[in-house]
Amino acid sequence: MKIKIYQFGLLALFFTFIACDPAPKTKPGFVEENIQFAAAQEKLQVDAIEQSGKVLNPRTVANGKVKYIPMEDWTSGFYPSTMWYMFELTGDSTWKTYARKYTEAIDSVKYLTWHHDVGFMIQCSFGNGLRLGEERYNEVIIQAAKSLSTRFRPVAGVFQSWNVDKGWQSERGWECPVIIDNMMNLELLFNATRLSGDSSYYKLAVSHADQTIKNHYRPDYSCYHVVDYSLADGSVRNKHTAQGYAHESAWARGQAWGIYGFTVAYRETHDPKYLQQAQKAFNFVINHKNFPADFVPYWDFDAPKIPEEPRDASAAAIMASALYELSNFENGEFYKAWADKIMTSLSSPAYRAKPGENGNFLLMHSVGSIPHGAEIDVPLNYADYYFLEALLRKKNLEEKK
Ligand code: GLY
Repeated sequence: MKIKIYQFGLLALFFTFIACDPAPKTKPGFVEENIQFAAAQEKLQVDAIEQSGKVLNPRTVANGKVKYIPMEDWTSGFYPSTMWYMFELTGDSTWKTYARKYTEAIDSVKYLTWHHDVGFMIQCSFGNGLRLGEERYNEVIIQAAKSLSTRFRPVAGVFQSWNVDKGWQSERGWECPVIIDNMMNLELLFNATRLSGDSSYYKLAVSHADQTIKNHYRPDYSCYHVVDYSLADGSVRNKHTAQGYAHESAWARGQAWGIYGFTVAYRETHDPKYLQQAQKAFNFVINHKNFPADFVPYWDFDAPKIPEEPRDASAAAIMASALYELSNFENGEFYKAWADKIMTSLSSPAYRAKPGENGNFLLMHSVGSIPHGAEIDVPLNYADYYFLEALLRKKNLEEKK
């Protein structure tokens, strides 16, 4: 009997050990091998740009060529910030020199007021530069937060994402469209309050996050892409999609933006409701019957021809990065193990490009917008950015930084 109890005790100890095992769930050398690959691929990318004598900003590949974008494009912050991450991942100061050059080339984005993405654009680029010691970028963050604040609509308590006076947005009958992606712009505002001491940015961010919980999420914790508010009384006029399959479907990148955005909102406010929102939104993903065995979502969880639908590696990379951060707060092993699984898949030959291919982008198989017929099954600069951010977060977690 005594022996049995002893054996049982050992077994219990073994399972406790397994459950608390802080070891990485990826192969030894995973981080280093991915850093080496990224350094080689990003060097090819930047060498090609430098040889042109211009400061170009690569977004994707179209018709077999790298597509460069102007600084007003919502993705213009990602390439400069990829270089900040390359500097951080490798310690090679060449990347810092490039990072400064490509970041400072988009300086005037801080005055952009005609769409909400100024938050993404400036926080990723100048925000990372500031974090890595470029004190003079303070002013850029604060000016960008001022510009973004012009889009706050007090009657609805939200930031308006898109203008509705021209383009395809003008054809949808919206008054004040707010997209789930807008949660990603709040980090800039939290940062601006910390830097300026002006609490108004923080308060606007909290108002936006609260309204997003109230109006963007369904009872199963999937989210709508677009919520359209009345500018007369702040009521909700429409719950729609723009980039998803249907109004009532779950667009994959939207789910990822929500998980990431609420994780940041929790980090900045310590309000447990934001942590719960991120956790429940992630539970929706992993419990969905269409979440694939390789953990890289189809572009929409409700796309009609699954499994013949394109994947969206960008959604997977955004989620992986968010999950590493989420692992700092509660149930760390659970979220880190999920992030590791996604990263293992993304860095496999199924998603990671061969050196010198894929327009020198890192990841293949992302989707921009299927309803607009744009960027289907292509590399995207933001897939690469969040992949590198996830890699850095994994590295730091494992080195206990
Ligand atoms: N923020 C635009 C997109 O996710 O496509």
